[in-house]
Amino acid sequence: MSSTADKGATKRSVTVTLDGSNRSASLPLVSGTLGPDVFDIRKLHGELGVFTFDPGYGATASCESRITYIDGDEGVLLYRGYPIEQLAEKSDFLEVAYLLLNGDLPDAKQFEDFHQGVTRHTMLHEQIRRFYDGFRRDAHPMAIICGVVGALSAFYHDSLDINDARQREIAAFRLIAKVPTIAAWAYKYSIGQPFMYPRNDLGYAENFLYMLNAVPAEQWQGNPILSRAMDRILVLHADHEQNASTSTVRLAGSTGANPYACIAAGIAALWGPAHGGANEAVLKMLAEIERPENIPAFIDGVKDKSSHHKLMGFGHRVYKNFDPRAKIMQQTCHEVLRELGIKDEPMLDLAMELERIALSDDYFIQRKLYPNVDFYSGIILKAMGIPTSMFTVLFAVARTVGWVSQWKEMIEDPAQRIGRPRQIYTGAPQRDYVPIGRRG
Ligand code: ACO
Repeated sequence: MSSTADKGATKRSVTVTLDGSNRSASLPLVSGTLGPDVFDIRKLHGELGVFTFDPGYGATASCESRITYIDGDEGVLLYRGYPIEQLAEKSDFLEVAYLLLNGDLPDAKQFEDFHQGVTRHTMLHEQIRRFYDGFRRDAHPMAIICGVVGALSAFYHDSLDINDARQREIAAFRLIAKVPTIAAWAYKYSIGQPFMYPRNDLGYAENFLYMLNAVPAEQWQGNPILSRAMDRILVLHADHEQNASTSTVRLAGSTGANPYACIAAGIAALWGPAHGGANEAVLKMLAEIERPENIPAFIDGVKDKSSHHKLMGFGHRVYKNFDPRAKIMQQTCHEVLRELGIKDEPMLDLAMELERIALSDDYFIQRKLYPNVDFYSGIILKAMGIPTSMFTVLFAVARTVGWVSQWKEMIEDPAQRIGRPRQIYTGAPQRDYVPIGRRG
């Protein structure tokens, strides 16, 4: 289903002339609904015999998308046109999931059907349980969910045909529903506690907290404020246009790979500390800094390029003013600590002081480096009793809906073709093979 609010792209033809040569090509200049115009360079090689070079894709749009919009200079993030601030305050994760997948907010009946569609799929095939025994007890939960999500393709053969819209829908429901169960079990396995089966009478975030924290021997008492905070964290992480993990999902999906394999690829890409692994890295960094007096020396170390250290939770490829998610996260952090009766959280004080010092330092000002979503999320999660090793896993739980929405949009795009970048070759020119005895 496509949204009623978007308008699609409009095209004009613009002639590009390459300086220093008489060569010119007529390239379409494409305007989206929002954001800068984009040159469609697909004909460039055919007409001028050249490619473009953009390692890290800082200046390249890899696809047309109607899902998420970011204005990095203004600190704007829209899901299907709705500002993240409004969704974080007024909506909830399942409604946002519907929005991202389908393009518009649901009416009551659509939401009920969607809710049922997700909750019907929260359990895992019993044989998947046995997978966990194959992992070492000290395995990182990201390693486990990467493996188990990929393994779903070995269990759910009725949703592997990517050309069948109904199968794509079932795969979407399965992934959104099962990833929290897979994630919670990865944690339970690592601490040697019994796995808790999902409870469909609980909300999405509440059920996730239940599977993480409950034990069969005791009654579990949820805390609505903490469930609400978890739900908000999921909303904030649900999608972020063509980031590294989403682009990985799209690239894997462009080959026709099944959705479970594609999402496993996304989880692998998310794991790195430059991306989703940053929330875990922020807490390690704060623990390493330990006290406010140590901040200046730490900042000096970060500015020294030979140290290869970064200020974790700072900087973003697109946001060059502020990350709107970080603002909401900071506010949520205070709410959670208040609710938990934590008046004095040294780690929060340390983070705030670190932020203050970094934001007044020329190095960070000149490079437009601001706190990103991960700077405060780790502190909230720690206060909620979530172990550090689960931080990135939680991000993966939230982002699964974004990955699935982007994958689905790509499969349904008639212009979709296999992703296959080119290169500048700088290796040896063609040469002849020399037998080993005649080399050197
Ligand atoms: N600490 C110190 N210096 C930094 C940082 C940082 N966190 N981020 C960027 N810089 C510096 C770079 O060294 C570079 O300096 P230079 O111009 O002197 O060479 C300059 O700022 C520009 O940075 P790039 O590396 O070109 O920025 P890029 O867009 O490639 O990277 C990234 C963005 C990966 C997020 C980077 O800022 C970073 O590593 N941050 C820390 C990790 C982090 O928090 N990741 C989470 C990102 S948000 C998310 O995925 C949810």
